[in-house]
Amino acid sequence: MHPIAKSLITWYRKNGRSLPWRLTTDPFKIWMSEIILQQTRVEQGLPYYERFVEQFADVKSLAKAKEEKVLKLWQGLGYYSRGRNLHKAAKIISSEFNGAFPKEYKDIRKLPGIGDYTAAAIASFAFKLNYPVLDGNVYRFISRLFGISTPIDTPAAKKEFMSILNELILGAPPDEFNQSIMEFGALHCTPRQPDCAHCIFKEQCVALSTAGPTSFPVKSKKTIVRERYFNYLVIKEQKSFYLKQRTSKDIWMNLWEFPMIESSKPLTIAKLLKEAGQLFNLEQAIFEPEVKKHRHLLTHQTIHASFFEFKLMFPIDPPEAWKKTNGKNSEKYPLPKLIENYMRENKW
Ligand code: ADE
Repeated sequence: MHPIAKSLITWYRKNGRSLPWRLTTDPFKIWMSEIILQQTRVEQGLPYYERFVEQFADVKSLAKAKEEKVLKLWQGLGYYSRGRNLHKAAKIISSEFNGAFPKEYKDIRKLPGIGDYTAAAIASFAFKLNYPVLDGNVYRFISRLFGISTPIDTPAAKKEFMSILNELILGAPPDEFNQSIMEFGALHCTPRQPDCAHCIFKEQCVALSTAGPTSFPVKSKKTIVRERYFNYLVIKEQKSFYLKQRTSKDIWMNLWEFPMIESSKPLTIAKLLKEAGQLFNLEQAIFEPEVKKHRHLLTHQTIHASFFEFKLMFPIDPPEAWKKTNGKNSEKYPLPKLIENYMRENKW
């Protein structure tokens, strides 16, 4: 075994967290855990993992569920295409593999929502196949240890890092190697203040003896963040209100929200009222001038949400896509976290 792999695994056996998906070799459970954990912290993903495992015993039961149910369980986790792809992949495994999770990397990799990282994670954890994982934690650890300055957001870096990992994993148990290298990045070789004084690699770490750990990994471009303004029309008629499904290929696709006017800049109330007047008859409503605001940060966009409340004095003739609902039967609609928070904070 490569000495670096040996050190990582020894460290992991002593310091690794006992997490439920590490106590199983069931590919179905491992797959669900990996999809849930994409772009998500372990503490946030854990309760979702537990609910999914409890709700769905196997691929077939997930495949048979309604998409609405899967999205409802996913509610609050964000990046909802993961939930939709999970469901889509379950249907494919049911029909093409009779519900048995595929055992070969190339078949796993073809499923929707599964990229190189996730395919390697499932192949190694469930089937002990020799595929190294390369996620953000691994990029950070390897770039520091070897002092690699190739920008990690390039195809060249992926090749370079994969070739190093393929050498390191040789002769090691692939499941433990992969868990340990990710865990070392997550717990020890952390982004901002790694504990280099107590690091098992302090003698050989190139970053530590040169530019310092926080100079790695290198990125070529800054993430561009788009500013979006979501102006929500909260139209209430006693206990009822309106929701509308998001249908375009955008964030929160297929989720439900209040009818909304999007703008690229903040809207004045006068402008908002003018636009709202095109959608329903404002003369039937009392506008509550206290506007509630929320900011919601995503990786590539910031959502500035404003909630404009209207109390209806008389029923309106709403656009066809609007669904009238009340607190009770709205529970079946999957909602973005932003909307769920708004309802909770306002004690709906
Ligand atoms: N993040 C993604 N996969 C993980 C795993 N198997 N254990 C801990 N964190 C993870």
